[in-house]
Amino acid sequence: MNQANIHRLVATQLKQKDADALFDLRLAANLPLIQNLFSSLYPDEHHKAHFQKLMDLLSRLYASRPSELKKQDLERLNSGNWYQSEKIMGMQLYVEHFNKNLNGLKEKLPYFKDLGVNFLHLMPITTRPKGESDGGYAVNSYLQVDKRYGTKEDLLALTFEFRKEGMYLMLDFVVNHTSNEFSWAKKAMKGDKKYQGYYYTFEDYTIPSEFEKNLPEVFPETSPGSFTYVPEMNRWVMTVFNSYQWDLNYTNPEVFLEMLTNLVKLTDLGVDVVRFDALAFLWKKMGTISQNLPEAHDLVALFRMCLQVVAPGVILLAEAIVAPTDIIKYFGEDQKRGNECEVAYNASLMALLWNSIATKRTSLLYKSLDHVPPKPVDCTWINYIRCHDDIGLGYENQLIQELGWNPDMHRKFLLDYYCQHLDWSPSKGLMFMYNPKTGDGRITGSSASLLGLEKALELKDDVLITESINKIVMLHGIILAFGGIPLIYAGDEIGTLNDYSFRNDNSKKDDSRWVNRPMQDWDTISKLDNRNLPQSKIYHTLQKLINIRKSNPVFADNNSLSLCHTGNDHILVFEKRGNVREGLLVLCNFDENAQVIETGWIKRLGYFTKGDPLDLVSDRKLVMKSGLLEIAPYQLIWLKRD
Ligand code: GLC
Repeated sequence: MNQANIHRLVATQLKQKDADALFDLRLAANLPLIQNLFSSLYPDEHHKAHFQKLMDLLSRLYASRPSELKKQDLERLNSGNWYQSEKIMGMQLYVEHFNKNLNGLKEKLPYFKDLGVNFLHLMPITTRPKGESDGGYAVNSYLQVDKRYGTKEDLLALTFEFRKEGMYLMLDFVVNHTSNEFSWAKKAMKGDKKYQGYYYTFEDYTIPSEFEKNLPEVFPETSPGSFTYVPEMNRWVMTVFNSYQWDLNYTNPEVFLEMLTNLVKLTDLGVDVVRFDALAFLWKKMGTISQNLPEAHDLVALFRMCLQVVAPGVILLAEAIVAPTDIIKYFGEDQKRGNECEVAYNASLMALLWNSIATKRTSLLYKSLDHVPPKPVDCTWINYIRCHDDIGLGYENQLIQELGWNPDMHRKFLLDYYCQHLDWSPSKGLMFMYNPKTGDGRITGSSASLLGLEKALELKDDVLITESINKIVMLHGIILAFGGIPLIYAGDEIGTLNDYSFRNDNSKKDDSRWVNRPMQDWDTISKLDNRNLPQSKIYHTLQKLINIRKSNPVFADNNSLSLCHTGNDHILVFEKRGNVREGLLVLCNFDENAQVIETGWIKRLGYFTKGDPLDLVSDRKLVMKSGLLEIAPYQLIWLKRD
């Protein structure tokens, strides 16, 4: 049982629902963990006063939480884990690319309703430097809305509307770094020692050069190395991402206390899910790659345990784009099990799906998913195909080797396949951050362009267009059924192609991720009634699948997913079980040719007890020939047992 369950238990047992008494109980229940985590990061002998400060801070933060949100916190304590429900359907978007600003977004609520979306991740909306700002991930403040999006009042009006409409909101908390224009950085530049201590700053390059021996480069093309010399303060500062993003120094407890305040204040604006950006990087230690360190996990758990005391209705998402066995650790292990982040990006599934599209094989997917230990029951995934970032090829080398492939050559093949180095490939992606020193590279591009729609439309080839639509639907069908929150990247629901306009913008041209950050195409959306358009076919099929998901509890994440091995290397099959009889069988063909599988085992699972089962996707009964089931190229099948 994790801490959230203890709070739920206490909240439901308490006869008189006194919110303040519950706060005291939550604090009492989390205190041993908070104290342990705090003192493991900030030893007692030096930091007693800081711990006292933390205790005072928690009470103050709770006192200033808006009463409407306190009420909602209690309601959420009394209900189940909303984020595991089949009813949740997410979309990620850039406000300014979607419909101008926050007010413009509000006007589009009917669009989300039509598609079935009720969970939104808005990309950063706070102030940032002019020019390059890593899409707002270089923050000038954590709470001030940038005026291009509107005002704080607009945001409050939006979150109010969301609550009324049953929409959930996720915003980023860029927890690892600030911009070089953030007030702390400015003071540090002016020579203020206190604020120089909020970052990792060094008087010369001696320590940085020691660090550099082990630190991998995140943006080797545009921001090589992990330290930047700042002439204004005549010091070096750690900048693991871009040179204008300064890494916060969490060995300093003042930084933790200030950031906890920022975190809670962000949730006080009506945010339901906080996306912990780049959290794998939170702790640095010389001689290590400074990712996924045990202290980073302690810090995340400490944030979570404190937030839970103050705002128990708010949950955290781990943005840890790391190896599969490392991602799962952000749900918490051992004593912290279930006590770090409630949700994590299923980056492994995402990258494996792209691998399967290129190779037309599912062997690495099965191997890798089988390799990951089960997640804690109260945690869940965000399942997605594309987001605003690149696709990294973070597969486990050992598993690639076990398939008889050479990991370096395999990655090279994937880059060639997706980044237009192979004439026969249908894909039109771009290379991101190719590092000639290591041969590493990542992939950018919209899902439709990566899945062949751009090329097919250029060639005016109806067969290829249909094939691409089928791939788009199949991948979305997988993330809708995998258990967790499916997150569509805005534009993908209408097969939006790459946007090459970033090449004309000096602040964007070196970052090819902008190719997959297009403007929402309202012109196409206005024509969706024309069912012959490829965009319309994608939209209406996804709309239908979302509707099926939301009407069938078997799609909820009840920790019952199992992979079914069919013996056919092109096929992916998994089953989700619901209550006693309920089941969902998902079958997909990653090959360009039809494939057959034997069906005896499907019968034994009970999917034929009422005659030939109905495929919910096509509304057709499955046809068997001599005990074999034929699955068309890139076909998605959903079978339900009830
Ligand atoms: C996350 C964001 C990415 C950003 C990075 C640095 O990975 O998704 O867009 O560049 O953090 O903030």
